[in-house]
Amino acid sequence: SRTYRIAPSILSADFARLGEEVRNVVGAGADWIHFDVMDNHYVPNLTFGPMVCQALKPHAKRPDGTPVPIDAHLMVAPVDALAAAFAEAGADLVSFHPDASGHVHRSIQAITSKGVKAGLVFNPAAPLDVLDWVIDDIDLVLVMSVNPGFGGQGFIDSALRKIEAVRRRIDASGKDIRLEVDGGIKVDNIARVAAAGADTFVAGSAIFGKPDYAAVIAAMRGALVR
Ligand code: DX5
Ligand code: ZN
Repeated sequence: SRTYRIAPSILSADFARLGEEVRNVVGAGADWIHFDVMDNHYVPNLTFGPMVCQALKPHAKRPDGTPVPIDAHLMVAPVDALAAAFAEAGADLVSFHPDASGHVHRSIQAITSKGVKAGLVFNPAAPLDVLDWVIDDIDLVLVMSVNPGFGGQGFIDSALRKIEAVRRRIDASGKDIRLEVDGGIKVDNIARVAAAGADTFVAGSAIFGKPDYAAVIAAMRGALVR
């Protein structure tokens, strides 16, 4: 059976108290911290950059000091300079949209050459063809189940077929590659998303929209083991 990871997206956290929000969601059982970077160019919204990642890094740890991985999801174009900056700012995984990069293999190298894990992100209508050529170079595939740019949108059902297709490619590769899904994940649909083949779940509004983050994360884990 798979080891599942829950990656709360701080896009839906209180931006006036980000450090505290990261600590709270780590205390609530987050496995990773999902960090949504938007540039008002690749997507029509603007969030935060590498300096904010660096400032939050010391907050992304458990009480015993164990670091909680920072999962940076770059919705930016161009990719390479910011990807390298996030690797240097303490991100443990850096993912980008291949359609935002003119040279996907080079962008992957900009990340992995810093000793950081690299991921590719696929929008709801994006083809998976690029995986034919770079699957040996990446550590994570992120399937978008909403159009990127905003939290709180509804899950797009065709993402389930895409997750199944990515799962087949990962299994055929024989590599240890995480299959993450992002957008509209809730307690009541996470089991279906896992059944399609996902092992890592981003959730923003479902967690930060409720007062008790731990209760939501526990309910998600409960839905995953049933
Ligand atoms: C959207 C972001 C998501 C978003 C998910 O562009 O990539 O990570 O925060 O938010 P929810 O879980 O509210 O759909
Ligand atoms: Zn995201």
